[in-house]
Amino acid sequence: MVVVAILAAGRGTRMKSHLPKVLHSLGGRSLVERVLDSVEPLSPSRRMVIVGYQAQEVKSAMHSPRLEFVEQTVQMGTGHAIQQLLPHLEGYTGDLLVLNGDVPLLRTQTLQQLWQTHQENHNAATILTSHIPEPKGYGRVFCNSENVVQQIVEDKDCTAAQRQNRRINAGVYCFRWQDLAEVLPHLQANNTQQEYYLTDAVTQVGKVMAVDVEDYQEILGINDRLQLATAYDILQRRVKEKWMRAGVTLIDPNSITIDDTVELQPDVIIEPQTHLRGNTTIQTGSRIGPGSLIENSQLGENVTVQYSVVTDSIVQTGTRIGPYAHLRGHAQVGANCRVGNFVELKNTQLGDRTNVAHLSYLGDTTTGNQVNIGAGTITANYDGVKKHPTKIGDRTKTGSNSVLVAPITLGDDVYVAAGSTVTEDVPDDSLVIARSRQVVKPGWQQKTQ
Ligand code: UD1
Ligand code: CA
Repeated sequence: MVVVAILAAGRGTRMKSHLPKVLHSLGGRSLVERVLDSVEPLSPSRRMVIVGYQAQEVKSAMHSPRLEFVEQTVQMGTGHAIQQLLPHLEGYTGDLLVLNGDVPLLRTQTLQQLWQTHQENHNAATILTSHIPEPKGYGRVFCNSENVVQQIVEDKDCTAAQRQNRRINAGVYCFRWQDLAEVLPHLQANNTQQEYYLTDAVTQVGKVMAVDVEDYQEILGINDRLQLATAYDILQRRVKEKWMRAGVTLIDPNSITIDDTVELQPDVIIEPQTHLRGNTTIQTGSRIGPGSLIENSQLGENVTVQYSVVTDSIVQTGTRIGPYAHLRGHAQVGANCRVGNFVELKNTQLGDRTNVAHLSYLGDTTTGNQVNIGAGTITANYDGVKKHPTKIGDRTKTGSNSVLVAPITLGDDVYVAAGSTVTEDVPDDSLVIARSRQVVKPGWQQKTQ
Protein backbone atom coordinates (compact mmCIF):
# COMPACT_ATOMS: atom_id res chain seq x y z
CA MET A 1 0.00 0.00 0.00
CA VAL A 2 1.28 3.46 -0.83
CA VAL A 3 0.26 6.93 0.24
CA VAL A 4 1.44 9.80 -1.95
CA ALA A 5 2.51 13.19 -0.59
CA ILE A 6 3.25 16.10 -2.88
CA LEU A 7 5.26 19.05 -1.65
CA ALA A 8 3.54 22.16 -2.92
CA ALA A 9 3.75 24.70 -0.11
CA GLY A 10 6.74 26.69 -1.30
CA ARG A 11 6.39 30.06 -2.94
CA GLY A 12 8.73 29.52 -5.84
CA THR A 13 10.46 32.90 -5.40
CA ARG A 14 12.61 32.44 -8.47
CA MET A 15 9.56 32.34 -10.74
CA LYS A 16 8.96 36.03 -9.88
CA SER A 17 5.24 35.50 -10.12
CA HIS A 18 1.98 36.19 -8.27
CA LEU A 19 0.94 32.66 -9.12
CA PRO A 20 2.24 29.90 -6.82
CA LYS A 21 4.95 27.98 -8.69
CA VAL A 22 3.16 24.64 -8.78
CA LEU A 23 0.19 26.23 -10.58
CA HIS A 24 2.26 27.42 -13.51
CA SER A 25 1.15 25.71 -16.69
CA LEU A 26 3.28 23.33 -18.69
CA GLY A 27 1.57 22.47 -21.97
CA GLY A 28 -1.95 23.02 -20.66
CA ARG A 29 -1.60 21.26 -17.26
CA SER A 30 -0.21 22.75 -14.09
CA LEU A 31 3.07 21.43 -12.71
CA VAL A 32 1.41 19.83 -9.71
CA GLU A 33 -1.33 18.22 -11.83
CA ARG A 34 1.39 16.62 -13.94
CA VAL A 35 3.05 15.25 -10.84
CA LEU A 36 -0.28 13.78 -9.74
CA ASP A 37 -0.87 12.26 -13.18
CA SER A 38 2.51 10.53 -13.12
CA VAL A 39 1.70 8.80 -9.83
CA GLU A 40 -1.91 7.86 -10.53
CA PRO A 41 -1.22 4.43 -12.14
CA LEU A 42 0.31 3.30 -8.82
CA SER A 43 -3.24 3.49 -7.39
CA PRO A 44 -2.27 5.31 -4.20
CA SER A 45 -4.60 4.77 -1.25
CA ARG A 46 -4.38 8.48 -0.34
CA ARG A 47 -3.16 11.56 -2.19
CA MET A 48 -1.97 14.27 0.15
CA VAL A 49 -0.95 17.68 -1.13
CA ILE A 50 1.01 19.88 1.27
CA VAL A 51 0.03 23.47 0.66
CA GLY A 52 1.10 26.74 2.27
CA TYR A 53 1.92 29.73 0.10
CA GLN A 54 -1.43 30.85 -1.35
CA ALA A 55 -2.94 27.61 -0.09
CA GLN A 56 -6.47 28.62 -1.01
CA GLU A 57 -5.54 29.33 -4.59
CA VAL A 58 -3.73 26.01 -4.95
CA LYS A 59 -6.67 24.13 -3.43
CA SER A 60 -9.28 25.69 -5.67
CA ALA A 61 -7.15 25.12 -8.76
CA MET A 62 -6.96 21.41 -7.95
CA HIS A 63 -10.57 20.64 -7.06
CA SER A 64 -10.47 16.84 -7.13
CA PRO A 65 -12.44 15.18 -4.32
CA ARG A 66 -9.75 12.50 -4.12
CA LEU A 67 -7.11 14.92 -2.85
CA GLU A 68 -6.44 15.70 0.81
CA PHE A 69 -4.83 19.05 1.55
CA VAL A 70 -2.51 19.44 4.50
CA GLU A 71 -1.49 22.96 5.44
CA GLN A 72 2.04 23.98 6.24
CA THR A 73 1.34 27.50 7.44
CA VAL A 74 4.98 28.60 7.59
CA GLN A 75 7.45 27.17 5.08
CA MET A 76 10.41 25.94 7.08
CA GLY A 77 11.75 23.41 4.63
CA THR A 78 10.89 20.12 2.98
CA GLY A 79 11.41 18.14 6.22
CA HIS A 80 9.09 20.51 8.07
CA ALA A 81 6.54 20.05 5.29
CA ILE A 82 6.53 16.28 5.75
CA GLN A 83 6.29 16.69 9.53
CA GLN A 84 2.81 18.09 8.91
CA LEU A 85 1.69 14.61 7.85
CA LEU A 86 2.35 13.08 11.28
CA PRO A 87 -1.14 13.62 12.75
CA HIS A 88 -2.78 12.48 9.51
CA LEU A 89 -0.88 9.20 9.13
CA GLU A 90 -0.90 7.97 12.71
CA GLY A 91 -0.84 4.17 12.81
CA TYR A 92 -0.26 3.85 9.05
CA THR A 93 2.06 0.94 8.28
CA GLY A 94 2.56 1.18 4.51
CA ASP A 95 4.91 3.19 2.29
CA LEU A 96 4.95 6.92 1.64
CA LEU A 97 5.93 8.20 -1.78
CA VAL A 98 7.07 11.81 -1.62
CA LEU A 99 7.27 13.95 -4.73
CA ASN A 100 8.23 17.58 -5.23
CA GLY A 101 5.39 19.53 -6.81
CA ASP A 102 7.88 21.17 -9.18
CA VAL A 103 9.23 18.02 -10.90
CA PRO A 104 6.64 17.55 -13.66
CA LEU A 105 8.32 15.30 -16.26
CA LEU A 106 8.59 12.08 -14.28
CA ARG A 107 7.56 8.90 -16.05
CA THR A 108 5.25 6.51 -14.24
CA GLN A 109 7.54 3.58 -15.01
CA THR A 110 10.34 5.33 -13.14
CA LEU A 111 8.15 5.65 -10.05
CA GLN A 112 7.14 2.01 -10.37
CA GLN A 113 10.79 1.02 -10.54
CA LEU A 114 11.53 3.11 -7.44
CA TRP A 115 8.74 1.48 -5.46
CA GLN A 116 9.68 -2.00 -6.64
CA THR A 117 13.35 -1.58 -5.62
CA HIS A 118 12.15 -0.26 -2.29
CA GLN A 119 10.00 -3.32 -1.61
CA GLU A 120 12.37 -5.97 -2.96
CA ASN A 121 15.27 -4.73 -0.84
CA HIS A 122 13.20 -4.06 2.28
CA ASN A 123 14.65 -0.55 2.41
CA ALA A 124 13.72 2.05 4.97
CA ALA A 125 13.92 4.58 2.15
CA THR A 126 14.70 4.57 -1.56
CA ILE A 127 15.43 7.74 -3.45
CA LEU A 128 15.60 8.71 -7.07
CA THR A 129 18.90 10.10 -8.32
CA SER A 130 20.49 11.00 -11.62
CA HIS A 131 23.79 12.09 -13.03
CA ILE A 132 23.23 15.45 -14.63
CA PRO A 133 25.53 17.70 -16.64
CA GLU A 134 24.66 20.86 -14.69
CA PRO A 135 23.98 19.87 -11.08
CA LYS A 136 23.98 23.42 -9.72
CA GLY A 137 21.16 24.01 -7.24
CA TYR A 138 20.46 20.34 -6.54
CA GLY A 139 21.31 18.28 -3.48
CA ARG A 140 24.29 15.94 -4.13
CA VAL A 141 23.96 12.27 -3.26
CA PHE A 142 26.89 10.19 -2.00
CA CYS A 143 26.58 6.40 -2.12
CA ASN A 144 28.80 3.44 -1.37
CA SER A 145 29.52 0.79 -3.99
CA GLU A 146 26.26 -1.06 -3.17
CA ASN A 147 24.21 2.01 -4.04
CA VAL A 148 23.47 2.56 -0.38
CA VAL A 149 23.08 6.26 0.34
CA GLN A 150 25.61 7.67 2.81
CA GLN A 151 24.91 11.37 2.63
CA ILE A 152 22.85 14.03 0.83
CA VAL A 153 24.28 17.54 0.86
CA GLU A 154 22.39 20.55 -0.45
CA ASP A 155 24.18 22.63 -3.07
CA LYS A 156 24.38 25.58 -0.69
CA ASP A 157 25.96 23.41 2.01
CA CYS A 158 28.49 21.65 -0.25
CA THR A 159 32.23 22.03 -0.03
CA ALA A 160 33.97 22.77 -3.31
CA ALA A 161 34.96 19.11 -3.55
CA GLN A 162 31.41 17.86 -2.84
CA ARG A 163 30.07 20.16 -5.52
CA GLN A 164 32.02 18.18 -8.13
CA ASN A 165 29.64 15.25 -7.60
CA ARG A 166 27.11 15.25 -10.40
CA ARG A 167 24.81 12.65 -8.88
CA ILE A 168 21.82 14.62 -7.65
CA ASN A 169 18.76 14.08 -5.52
CA ALA A 170 15.62 14.22 -7.66
CA GLY A 171 13.34 15.08 -4.75
CA VAL A 172 11.41 11.84 -5.18
CA TYR A 173 11.46 9.41 -2.28
CA CYS A 174 9.85 6.22 -1.11
CA PHE A 175 9.78 5.78 2.68
CA ARG A 176 8.64 3.06 5.01
CA TRP A 177 6.37 5.48 6.85
CA GLN A 178 6.86 4.11 10.35
CA ASP A 179 10.64 4.51 10.12
CA LEU A 180 10.31 8.06 8.80
CA ALA A 181 7.73 9.00 11.45
CA GLU A 182 10.23 8.14 14.17
CA VAL A 183 12.94 10.36 12.74
CA LEU A 184 10.86 13.38 11.66
CA PRO A 185 10.34 15.01 15.08
CA HIS A 186 14.11 15.10 15.66
CA LEU A 187 15.18 17.00 12.52
CA GLN A 188 17.45 19.99 13.05
CA ALA A 189 17.90 23.11 10.95
CA ASN A 190 21.70 23.19 11.13
CA ASN A 191 22.38 24.38 7.61
CA THR A 192 22.95 27.44 5.49
CA GLN A 193 19.25 27.96 4.82
CA GLN A 194 18.21 27.22 8.41
CA GLU A 195 15.53 24.89 7.14
CA TYR A 196 14.41 21.44 8.18
CA TYR A 197 15.58 19.28 5.31
CA LEU A 198 13.78 16.11 4.33
CA THR A 199 17.13 14.98 2.97
CA ASP A 200 18.46 14.84 6.54
CA ALA A 201 15.69 12.43 7.49
CA VAL A 202 16.61 10.23 4.55
CA THR A 203 20.03 9.39 5.95
CA GLN A 204 18.66 8.74 9.45
CA VAL A 205 15.93 6.19 8.76
CA GLY A 206 18.04 3.05 8.19
CA LYS A 207 18.99 1.37 4.94
CA VAL A 208 18.55 3.77 2.05
CA MET A 209 19.19 2.96 -1.57
CA ALA A 210 19.38 5.17 -4.63
CA VAL A 211 17.76 4.34 -7.95
CA ASP A 212 19.36 6.07 -10.90
CA VAL A 213 17.20 7.51 -13.66
CA GLU A 214 18.87 7.07 -17.00
CA ASP A 215 17.20 10.03 -18.68
CA TYR A 216 17.99 12.92 -16.35
CA GLN A 217 15.52 15.14 -18.16
CA GLU A 218 12.74 13.32 -16.32
CA ILE A 219 13.72 14.74 -12.97
CA LEU A 220 14.41 18.34 -13.89
CA GLY A 221 12.95 20.64 -11.26
CA ILE A 222 11.26 23.88 -12.26
CA ASN A 223 12.55 26.82 -10.27
CA ASP A 224 12.42 29.64 -12.81
CA ARG A 225 10.93 30.53 -16.19
CA LEU A 226 13.97 29.30 -18.09
CA GLN A 227 13.58 25.84 -16.62
CA LEU A 228 9.86 26.01 -17.38
CA ALA A 229 10.68 26.66 -21.04
CA THR A 230 13.26 23.87 -21.08
CA ALA A 231 10.70 21.47 -19.63
CA TYR A 232 8.22 22.52 -22.32
CA ASP A 233 10.79 21.71 -25.00
CA ILE A 234 11.42 18.29 -23.51
CA LEU A 235 7.72 17.57 -23.24
CA GLN A 236 7.13 18.67 -26.84
CA ARG A 237 9.94 16.49 -28.10
CA ARG A 238 8.47 13.50 -26.26
CA VAL A 239 4.97 14.11 -27.61
CA LYS A 240 6.10 14.67 -31.19
CA GLU A 241 8.37 11.63 -31.20
CA LYS A 242 5.51 9.52 -29.95
CA TRP A 243 3.19 10.65 -32.75
CA MET A 244 5.79 10.40 -35.50
CA ARG A 245 6.54 6.82 -34.40
CA ALA A 246 2.79 6.17 -34.48
CA GLY A 247 2.54 7.20 -38.15
CA VAL A 248 1.78 10.92 -38.01
CA THR A 249 3.68 13.25 -40.36
CA LEU A 250 4.87 16.51 -38.83
CA ILE A 251 6.18 18.97 -41.39
CA ASP A 252 8.73 21.20 -39.71
CA PRO A 253 8.16 19.80 -36.19
CA ASN A 254 9.91 22.72 -34.50
CA SER A 255 7.19 25.11 -35.58
CA ILE A 256 4.38 22.82 -34.33
CA THR A 257 3.14 22.42 -30.74
CA ILE A 258 1.01 19.51 -29.54
CA ASP A 259 -0.40 19.13 -26.02
CA ASP A 260 0.10 15.67 -24.58
CA THR A 261 -3.68 15.39 -24.18
CA VAL A 262 -4.18 15.32 -27.97
CA GLU A 263 -4.97 12.05 -29.82
CA LEU A 264 -3.92 11.54 -33.44
CA GLN A 265 -4.41 8.64 -35.85
CA PRO A 266 -1.87 7.31 -38.37
CA ASP A 267 -1.59 9.22 -41.66
CA VAL A 268 -2.60 12.49 -40.13
CA ILE A 269 -0.40 15.26 -41.57
CA ILE A 270 0.36 18.33 -39.50
CA GLU A 271 1.72 21.27 -41.46
CA PRO A 272 3.97 24.06 -40.12
CA GLN A 273 2.88 26.62 -37.52
CA THR A 274 0.02 24.49 -36.30
CA HIS A 275 -0.95 24.12 -32.65
CA LEU A 276 -3.06 21.29 -31.28
CA ARG A 277 -4.38 21.80 -27.78
CA GLY A 278 -6.46 20.29 -25.03
CA ASN A 279 -8.90 17.48 -25.60
CA THR A 280 -8.46 17.29 -29.39
CA THR A 281 -8.71 14.16 -31.55
CA ILE A 282 -7.92 13.97 -35.27
CA GLN A 283 -8.70 10.93 -37.41
CA THR A 284 -6.71 9.33 -40.17
CA GLY A 285 -6.05 11.07 -43.48
CA SER A 286 -6.65 14.57 -42.13
CA ARG A 287 -4.29 17.36 -43.04
CA ILE A 288 -4.11 20.25 -40.60
CA GLY A 289 -2.36 23.54 -41.30
CA PRO A 290 -0.37 25.40 -42.16
CA GLY A 291 -1.05 28.07 -39.57
CA SER A 292 -3.92 26.59 -37.60
CA LEU A 293 -5.03 26.30 -33.98
CA ILE A 294 -7.22 23.34 -33.00
CA GLU A 295 -8.41 23.28 -29.41
CA ASN A 296 -10.73 20.84 -27.64
CA SER A 297 -12.13 19.69 -30.98
CA GLN A 298 -12.87 16.42 -32.76
CA LEU A 299 -11.96 16.16 -36.44
CA GLY A 300 -13.07 13.13 -38.51
CA GLU A 301 -11.24 11.37 -41.33
CA ASN A 302 -9.81 13.24 -44.33
CA VAL A 303 -10.59 16.66 -42.96
CA THR A 304 -8.43 19.56 -44.12
CA VAL A 305 -7.91 22.77 -42.16
CA GLN A 306 -5.86 25.68 -43.49
CA TYR A 307 -4.99 28.89 -41.63
CA SER A 308 -7.96 28.51 -39.32
CA VAL A 309 -8.98 28.41 -35.68
CA VAL A 310 -11.22 25.60 -34.45
CA THR A 311 -12.21 25.54 -30.78
CA ASP A 312 -14.71 23.36 -28.91
CA SER A 313 -16.09 22.01 -32.18
CA ILE A 314 -16.73 18.82 -34.16
CA VAL A 315 -15.95 18.38 -37.87
CA GLN A 316 -17.00 15.23 -39.76
CA THR A 317 -15.29 13.22 -42.50
CA GLY A 318 -14.06 14.87 -45.67
CA THR A 319 -14.88 18.44 -44.74
CA ARG A 320 -12.61 21.29 -45.80
CA ILE A 321 -12.09 24.19 -43.41
CA GLY A 322 -10.44 27.48 -44.39
CA PRO A 323 -8.44 29.28 -45.35
CA TYR A 324 -9.25 31.77 -42.60
CA ALA A 325 -12.27 30.23 -40.92
CA HIS A 326 -13.17 30.36 -37.23
CA LEU A 327 -15.27 27.63 -35.63
CA ARG A 328 -16.17 28.05 -31.97
CA GLY A 329 -18.85 27.62 -29.32
CA HIS A 330 -19.70 23.98 -30.10
CA ALA A 331 -19.91 24.28 -33.86
CA GLN A 332 -20.69 20.96 -35.55
CA VAL A 333 -19.95 20.57 -39.22
CA GLY A 334 -21.25 17.51 -41.14
CA ALA A 335 -19.43 15.35 -43.68
CA ASN A 336 -18.04 16.69 -46.97
CA CYS A 337 -18.80 20.32 -46.23
CA ARG A 338 -16.80 23.39 -47.12
CA VAL A 339 -16.36 26.21 -44.65
CA GLY A 340 -14.18 28.72 -46.33
CA ASN A 341 -12.65 32.11 -46.55
CA PHE A 342 -13.47 34.44 -43.67
CA VAL A 343 -16.35 32.43 -42.27
CA GLU A 344 -17.24 32.30 -38.58
CA LEU A 345 -19.47 29.58 -37.14
CA LYS A 346 -20.61 29.89 -33.54
CA ASN A 347 -22.83 27.28 -31.87
CA THR A 348 -23.93 26.21 -35.33
CA GLN A 349 -24.73 22.79 -36.81
CA LEU A 350 -24.25 22.20 -40.52
CA GLY A 351 -25.70 19.09 -42.22
CA ASP A 352 -23.71 17.01 -44.74
CA ARG A 353 -22.47 18.44 -48.06
CA THR A 354 -23.31 21.96 -46.97
CA ASN A 355 -21.13 24.88 -48.07
CA VAL A 356 -20.44 28.20 -46.41
CA ALA A 357 -17.67 29.28 -48.66
CA HIS A 358 -17.12 33.00 -48.24
CA LEU A 359 -17.46 35.89 -45.81
CA SER A 360 -20.28 34.64 -43.57
CA TYR A 361 -21.27 34.64 -39.92
CA LEU A 362 -23.63 31.91 -38.76
CA GLY A 363 -24.50 31.97 -35.07
CA ASP A 364 -26.98 29.67 -33.24
CA THR A 365 -27.92 28.19 -36.61
CA THR A 366 -28.94 24.71 -37.73
CA THR A 367 -28.85 23.78 -41.40
CA GLY A 368 -29.95 20.65 -43.26
CA ASN A 369 -27.96 18.79 -45.93
CA GLN A 370 -26.70 20.18 -49.26
CA VAL A 371 -27.37 23.74 -48.22
CA ASN A 372 -25.47 26.53 -49.94
CA ILE A 373 -24.88 29.63 -47.91
CA GLY A 374 -24.02 32.40 -50.36
CA ALA A 375 -21.11 34.78 -49.96
CA GLY A 376 -21.68 37.34 -47.25
CA THR A 377 -24.74 35.71 -45.68
CA ILE A 378 -25.14 36.80 -42.08
CA THR A 379 -27.44 35.54 -39.36
CA ALA A 380 -28.54 38.46 -37.22
CA ASN A 381 -28.87 36.34 -34.08
CA TYR A 382 -28.60 38.98 -31.37
CA ASP A 383 -31.21 41.61 -30.65
CA GLY A 384 -29.06 43.39 -28.14
CA VAL A 385 -30.43 41.37 -25.23
CA LYS A 386 -30.88 37.74 -26.30
CA LYS A 387 -29.51 35.33 -28.87
CA HIS A 388 -32.05 33.74 -31.25
CA PRO A 389 -31.91 30.59 -33.43
CA THR A 390 -31.97 30.26 -37.21
CA LYS A 391 -33.13 27.06 -38.95
CA ILE A 392 -32.39 26.33 -42.60
CA GLY A 393 -33.87 23.28 -44.40
CA ASP A 394 -32.25 20.84 -46.86
CA ARG A 395 -30.98 22.11 -50.23
CA THR A 396 -31.82 25.73 -49.42
CA LYS A 397 -29.65 28.40 -51.04
CA THR A 398 -29.09 31.90 -49.77
CA GLY A 399 -28.03 34.60 -52.21
CA SER A 400 -25.02 36.80 -51.67
CA ASN A 401 -25.29 39.37 -48.90
CA SER A 402 -28.46 37.97 -47.33
CA VAL A 403 -29.30 38.85 -43.75
CA LEU A 404 -31.41 36.31 -41.86
CA VAL A 405 -32.95 38.03 -38.85
CA ALA A 406 -33.44 35.46 -36.07
CA PRO A 407 -35.52 33.84 -34.77
CA ILE A 408 -36.29 32.55 -38.24
CA THR A 409 -36.92 29.32 -40.14
CA LEU A 410 -36.30 28.76 -43.84
CA GLY A 411 -37.88 25.53 -45.15
CA ASP A 412 -36.38 22.96 -47.59
CA ASP A 413 -35.52 24.04 -51.15
CA VAL A 414 -35.85 27.72 -50.41
CA TYR A 415 -34.07 30.34 -52.51
CA VAL A 416 -33.17 33.63 -50.90
CA ALA A 417 -32.58 36.39 -53.40
CA ALA A 418 -29.26 38.18 -53.16
CA GLY A 419 -29.25 41.20 -50.90
CA SER A 420 -32.40 40.20 -49.00
CA THR A 421 -33.04 40.97 -45.34
CA VAL A 422 -35.37 38.14 -44.34
CA THR A 423 -37.38 38.73 -41.18
CA GLU A 424 -40.21 36.18 -41.45
CA ASP A 425 -40.30 32.38 -41.84
CA VAL A 426 -40.22 31.03 -45.41
CA PRO A 427 -42.06 27.79 -46.36
CA ASP A 428 -40.58 24.91 -48.43
CA ASP A 429 -40.01 25.36 -52.20
CA SER A 430 -40.24 29.15 -52.11
CA LEU A 431 -38.26 32.03 -53.49
CA VAL A 432 -38.00 34.91 -51.07
CA ILE A 433 -37.05 38.38 -52.21
CA ALA A 434 -36.84 40.88 -49.38
CA ARG A 435 -35.36 44.04 -50.80
CA SER A 436 -36.72 47.03 -52.65
CA ARG A 437 -37.20 46.56 -56.37
CA GLN A 438 -34.67 48.15 -58.66
CA VAL A 439 -35.84 51.33 -60.30
CA VAL A 440 -34.16 52.51 -63.49
CA LYS A 441 -34.83 56.05 -64.71
CA PRO A 442 -33.53 56.43 -68.26
CA GLY A 443 -32.17 59.78 -69.36
CA TRP A 444 -31.79 60.86 -65.75
CA GLN A 445 -28.67 62.97 -66.20
CA GLN A 446 -30.20 65.18 -68.91
CA LYS A 447 -33.31 65.98 -66.80
CA THR A 448 -31.36 67.22 -63.85
CA GLN A 449 -29.31 69.59 -65.99
C1 UD1 B 1 15.03 20.01 -3.07
C2 UD1 B 1 15.96 19.03 -2.32
C3 UD1 B 1 17.21 18.79 -3.16
C4 UD1 B 1 16.81 18.26 -4.52
C5 UD1 B 1 15.78 19.17 -5.21
C6 UD1 B 1 15.23 18.47 -6.43
C7 UD1 B 1 15.64 19.43 0.06
C8 UD1 B 1 16.21 20.03 1.29
N1 UD1 B 1 16.33 19.60 -1.06
O1 UD1 B 1 15.74 21.24 -3.21
O2 UD1 B 1 18.08 17.87 -2.50
O3 UD1 B 1 17.96 18.11 -5.32
O4 UD1 B 1 14.68 19.45 -4.33
O5 UD1 B 1 14.39 19.30 -7.17
O6 UD1 B 1 14.61 18.81 0.14
N2 UD1 B 1 8.33 22.95 -0.17
C9 UD1 B 1 7.32 22.90 0.76
N3 UD1 B 1 7.52 23.46 1.99
C10 UD1 B 1 8.69 24.06 2.33
C11 UD1 B 1 9.72 24.09 1.36
C12 UD1 B 1 9.53 23.52 0.13
O7 UD1 B 1 6.24 22.37 0.51
O8 UD1 B 1 8.79 24.52 3.48
C13 UD1 B 1 8.08 22.34 -1.50
C14 UD1 B 1 8.22 23.32 -2.66
O9 UD1 B 1 6.96 23.90 -2.95
C15 UD1 B 1 8.71 22.42 -3.78
C16 UD1 B 1 9.46 21.31 -3.06
O10 UD1 B 1 9.06 21.36 -1.71
O11 UD1 B 1 7.64 21.85 -4.51
C17 UD1 B 1 10.98 21.49 -3.15
O12 UD1 B 1 11.33 22.73 -2.58
P1 UD1 B 1 12.46 23.63 -3.20
O13 UD1 B 1 12.61 24.82 -2.34
O14 UD1 B 1 12.25 23.84 -4.63
O15 UD1 B 1 13.72 22.67 -2.94
P2 UD1 B 1 15.08 22.65 -3.72
O16 UD1 B 1 15.96 23.73 -3.19
O17 UD1 B 1 14.84 22.61 -5.16
CA1 CA C 1 13.08 22.83 -6.55
